[in-house]
Amino acid sequence: MCGIAGYVGPRNAVDVVFDQLKRLEYRGYDSAGLAYVDEGRLHVLKKAGKLTGLGSLLAESKPSAHTAIAHSRWATHGGPTDLNAHPHHDQDAQISVIHNGIIENYLELKSDLVSRGHTFHSETDTEVAAHVIGEEYRDGVELVEAVRRAVAKLRGAFAFVVVSSAEPGTIVCARNASPLIVGFGEGESMVASDIPALLPYTRRVAILENDMVAKVTVDAIKFYSLEGKPIEPKPFDVDWDAVAAEKGGFEHFMIKEVHEQPEVVHQCLAGRVEGDHVKLDGLFSDHVWHEIDRINIIACGTAYHAGLMGKWMFERMLQLPVDVFYSSEFRYGEPLLSPRSLAIFVSQSGETADSLAALRLCKARRIRTLGVVNVVGSSIARDCDRVLYTQAGPEISVASTKAYTAQVLVLLLLVLHIAQVREMPGVRVPEIVQDLRGFAESMRQSLDLEPQVKALAERFKDSKMVFFLGRNADAHVALEAALKLKEIAYIPTQECPAGELKHGPLALVEPGVLAVFGATDPDTQDKLLSNMKEVQARGGTVVAVTTNEASAWADEMDTVLRVASCETKALAALSTIVPLQLLAYHLANLRGCEIDQPRNLAKSVTVE
Ligand code: G6P
Repeated sequence: MCGIAGYVGPRNAVDVVFDQLKRLEYRGYDSAGLAYVDEGRLHVLKKAGKLTGLGSLLAESKPSAHTAIAHSRWATHGGPTDLNAHPHHDQDAQISVIHNGIIENYLELKSDLVSRGHTFHSETDTEVAAHVIGEEYRDGVELVEAVRRAVAKLRGAFAFVVVSSAEPGTIVCARNASPLIVGFGEGESMVASDIPALLPYTRRVAILENDMVAKVTVDAIKFYSLEGKPIEPKPFDVDWDAVAAEKGGFEHFMIKEVHEQPEVVHQCLAGRVEGDHVKLDGLFSDHVWHEIDRINIIACGTAYHAGLMGKWMFERMLQLPVDVFYSSEFRYGEPLLSPRSLAIFVSQSGETADSLAALRLCKARRIRTLGVVNVVGSSIARDCDRVLYTQAGPEISVASTKAYTAQVLVLLLLVLHIAQVREMPGVRVPEIVQDLRGFAESMRQSLDLEPQVKALAERFKDSKMVFFLGRNADAHVALEAALKLKEIAYIPTQECPAGELKHGPLALVEPGVLAVFGATDPDTQDKLLSNMKEVQARGGTVVAVTTNEASAWADEMDTVLRVASCETKALAALSTIVPLQLLAYHLANLRGCEIDQPRNLAKSVTVE
């Protein structure tokens, strides 16, 4: 999720890569750095904080070179500090490396390297990768070959860009899962993590695909497979304008972020599932998990809805009582807190004032705290006793989408971690881990529903009210789906567990009303069918979002959207959020709403 830039050519490469980083600023970052090769020497400048920090370093030293790489960091391993900022170098400080992604096996690699005398200066996985590449880069081996050999030893998602003092005029890149684009200029070549960085310099680009390595020089860009076989790059011309390019060709950040969810699943799980078990680093020691008698999940907005899914999973799988609070209510609600309880704060930004106030209250009462946070180094992440990062990457659209998915996944990973520690025989960890491994593909299948959802949006774009209903986990997803629609399409919604319909909300159903039912839970389908019939009998239109395996009754509904089947109920329900996010998006778009910045709302609410 970091920004990457690289340039070789006749211009001042340092100026070019700094300009390219600025063009990636919209992604958000917490530190930045660059490396350039000049007169056979590597020079590195880096600084935590905004790009202006790096800009000041450049203004002081006014460097000039014809080969440079640069990086803006969105922290994953290690806080946002000068030392953790990229680039990183190998043991001999001969190569400089920037990286986007997560190296899952970096701890094993690091301990092996340390045992052989390597020293490290940062907490990052990237520095470990730099040392691995450095070890291969000797005895006359070319940099491209060294990177190719090193990549075979790394597990995880990554895009690397590497330069060497011994090979000025060459940039080597490698990719697995994280994006990397090369640009073919006139007598100059470049690389970037995203197209907007390249557009002022060239519109002729090629995508480095997974498991490929590239050697970028001033007059040629060569692609190779991991086996070293040359591959013909497939350049194409970008005809997007700069604004469209920031959004990866999508019309809005929100829809881009909805489409990023399969990749977010990979990022979120990276390094956390091993074989058939879950491995979460940096948490409380095992005895604490035995001691905890109750969990309070505290959050706002979308994060609160993720917390409700958390309660559902914790209670069912761990038989551990959980309460979920809106942060603003918790703060003034004089909560009864057991000294053996754990407070979990779920937050995308890590800066929400209500959640921070609730966190202060827990700390004053000496309650253990755990953050489930997206923004590394944010206030909630810093102030909680422990933190689990959601690793969803920067979320720019005010309406949260991919962060929700990652929050629910992290809470599920936590459930599995506790189940392992407490040796809960009833929790089938290996089976759930198996489902987690397939979940990115399930999310991809959910995205395939977009044409159907778009057609539905066309039909209901003038709706006065939309119902979102479900039972069990589907009822929690319904709340989040309704919030999305309210936030961006300004359509009033009615959301509740489907069984509650008859206790009030049914009075609002009349012809023209759309009712969307989450229907992935096989145990409640008969009851749900009755609720659907109640709506249809009053002239409402029913859309069922269900799984591939769901029974034939689904065909009686007006529209059926089918997501991938999954034994783990929470995951089956979670995969329905994608068509529901898409529904909100397409309805809002058809109604001409301001999607990324809806009226009256802010991404991060820093006032109570
Ligand atoms: C605002 C945003 C929501 C978000 C909520 C909580 O209301 O518009 O999208 O869910 O804050 O934010 P947090 O950063 O704590 O998750």
